[in-house]
Amino acid sequence: MAEDVTGTPGRLGSGACDVKGVPRLHHLHYHARMCGIFGYAGKRTDAGVIAIEGLKNLEYRGYDSWGIASKCGGELLIEKNIGAIGEIKSEDFSGRCSLSVAHTRWATHGGVTQRNAHPHLSEDGSIAVVHNGIVENYLELRRDLKAKGHTFLSETDTEVIPHLIEEELKKSGDFAEAVRSACMNFDGRYAILALHTKSNMLVAARTGSPLIIGVERNAGHAAASGYFIASDIPAFIKHTRVVQYLDDGEMAATNGRSISFMDICTGESRAKREIKITYRLEQAQKGDYEHFMLKEIMDQKESVARAVNQDEGEIRTIAEAIRRAKGTFLVGCGTAAKACMAAEYFFSVIAEHHVNFAPASEFKMFHHFLKPDSLLIVVSQSGETADVLEAMRVARDKGAKVLAIVNVEGSTIDRDADYTLLINAGPERAVASTKALTGQLAVLLLIAYALSERLKDGKTLLLESASAINDMLNPRFVERLEELAEKIHENDDLYIIGKSWNYPMALESAIKIQEVSYVHAEGFAGGELKHGPIALIEKGSPCIVLTGADEALQDILSNAQELKARGAMIIGVGPQKFEVFDEWIKVPEAGTAQAILNIIPIQALAYFLAVKRGKNPDMPRNLAKSVTVK
Ligand code: AGP
Ligand code: GLU
Repeated sequence: MAEDVTGTPGRLGSGACDVKGVPRLHHLHYHARMCGIFGYAGKRTDAGVIAIEGLKNLEYRGYDSWGIASKCGGELLIEKNIGAIGEIKSEDFSGRCSLSVAHTRWATHGGVTQRNAHPHLSEDGSIAVVHNGIVENYLELRRDLKAKGHTFLSETDTEVIPHLIEEELKKSGDFAEAVRSACMNFDGRYAILALHTKSNMLVAARTGSPLIIGVERNAGHAAASGYFIASDIPAFIKHTRVVQYLDDGEMAATNGRSISFMDICTGESRAKREIKITYRLEQAQKGDYEHFMLKEIMDQKESVARAVNQDEGEIRTIAEAIRRAKGTFLVGCGTAAKACMAAEYFFSVIAEHHVNFAPASEFKMFHHFLKPDSLLIVVSQSGETADVLEAMRVARDKGAKVLAIVNVEGSTIDRDADYTLLINAGPERAVASTKALTGQLAVLLLIAYALSERLKDGKTLLLESASAINDMLNPRFVERLEELAEKIHENDDLYIIGKSWNYPMALESAIKIQEVSYVHAEGFAGGELKHGPIALIEKGSPCIVLTGADEALQDILSNAQELKARGAMIIGVGPQKFEVFDEWIKVPEAGTAQAILNIIPIQALAYFLAVKRGKNPDMPRNLAKSVTVK
C-alpha cells in the first residue's frame, strides 16, 4: 500500500490511493481527452495490420495524428503521421508481427507534428507507449529523467512515460511492475498502453480514459489465442465479442497467452469477469451509408423498439423508487440533458409527479437539496461523460442512490451506478447523438407511464410509435428533408420553437444543427419569443415550429403567427398541416410520444445541412464523441 507522502491531489500513486487502494476520484480532475488506443498481443502474425484497422474504427473519436508500433520478427517497426490514418506497407506489418500498439492523438502538449505523434519510445527503444490524457507533472519528471541521461525527442508530456518505465524496469526487472511503479508518479487522469519488445508484453493502465480488453479464443479452446486492448469495442469487435473492462485505478498485463489484472495502487491482483457483447458487427459499421450520422438516424427504425423492450418488473421497481424518493433529480449533458428535460414534462403530464432537471455540469449547486433517500437519474449515451460522473459523486457524497440510463454497457457510469437501464441503441459513433436520444426518451416515457400505473399503455404507445418511425423513415421522407436543406442551407441563422416536451426538442434541434452544420441555430420556448428573441427575426428567417396534437398546440401556433407576422419562413413539423406553415414536414401523430418522432426529421435536416455546406457531419470541429473533460 502506497502511503500518502506528498498529498498532491491527482497523483494516483502517492496522493490518490485511499486506504482500500482505490484512487480517490473525487480528488482528481477529469483531464482525459478523447482519442484512440489500440493494442494486440497474441498468436496472430498480422498485428500491425490489425492495429491499423482497429485504429480506423476509432477514428470517430476525433484526432489530429496517428501512429503505430509493431514488433515484427525481432524488430520494432514504427509508422506515424499527421492527418488521416494512412496506409501502412502491409507487407512490412504482417506475417511476422504478433505485438502492436497504435494511437490516434488529440494533441494537448506539443504541436501536431509527426515527431509528437505516439507511440513514444524509451531510451533503449525497447518500450513503446501510447497514451490518452495528460501527465500533469511531466516537466518535473522530464527534468529528473534528463539528469539521469535520458534524451527526449518530442514536446509531449507522454514521452516521460516510456523513459520512466525504463528506469523502473532497471530496479525490478519486471515489466508490469515497472509500469505500475511509473504510474505511481504520474499526476492526472489517463489511459496508458505500453509494449515491451524484450518480454513480449503489453501492459495497460487506466485512471480516467476507458480501456477495454477483447479476449480471442480459437473455437473449441479454453485458452485465449490473443488479447486486444482498446479505447472502444468497435476497434476489435470484428475479432471477438468477449470483453473485460478495466476500471479506473486498474492495470492489465498480457503476453498474448494469458492476462492478469491488478490494482495500480496496491499491486494486488484483481479478478475480472468476461462479458459477451451482444450487438451485431454491422451495427458498428457504416454499411451503405456515407456517414455514421445518417446510418444512425436510419437505425431508429429499430432502435426505439429495442429501447422499449425493457423488463416490466424492473421498470415498475424503478417507478416505485422514484415514487418513494425524497426528491428525484435528472441530469445529463448536451443531448442527453435534453432527454432529461423532456422527462420533466413526461413525469408532470403523464404521472403528475415532480422531478428536477439540471444539466450535469450545474448539478453540484443543488446538492443542498439532496438527502440519503433522494434519487439521481443520470442519462448518458457513452457512459463516460465527466460532468455526469461528477454529478454522481456529488449524489454519492450525500448518500443518494443513482440510476443510470446509458447506451454503452460496461461504461464507467454503468458500472458506478446503483442501477442501470440500457437503452440498447447499438453503437453510436457519429459525434452527433441521434438514436441514443430517442432511446433515452422512450425509456424515460416508459418509466413515467409505470409511475402512473399505466405501463402497458405506455408500452403500447411506444411500440406503435416505433413502428410509425419505421414507416416515416422512408426514402421519400428523407429526400424531402434533403430538399428542405437545399432550400435553407445558405441561411446563417435558424430558429426552432416548441412548447411542452417540444421545447427541449427545440433546444436539441439547435444543438444538432449547430454541431454538424455550424449554422447559428437557436431553440426557444415559443412563449419566450415575445420576451426578447423575436427581435432577431427578419424577412425570410427560417423558423422551425415543433407541434403535436396536444394541449400546447394552440399556443405554439399563435407563436408561429407572431413569427410569420415579422416575415419569418415557417417550417412546421408535426402531425397536422396549418395555414401558417410555409413548409410542412409531416410526422405521424404519437400523442405523448410526439417529441420522439418530431426530433427525427430535424436530425436528418441537420445532417443534410452539414453535407450541403461541405462539412463532414461525423467529425464536427472542436468536438469529441464523449467528453471526458470537466
Ligand atoms: C450530442 O449530439 C452531443 N455531441 C453531446 O451534446 C452529447 O450528447 C453530450 O456530450 C453527452 O454525451 P453522453 O450522452 O455520452 O453523456
Ligand atoms: N497529452 C498527450 C499528447 O499531447 C496525449 C494526448 C491524447 O490523449 O491523445 O500527446
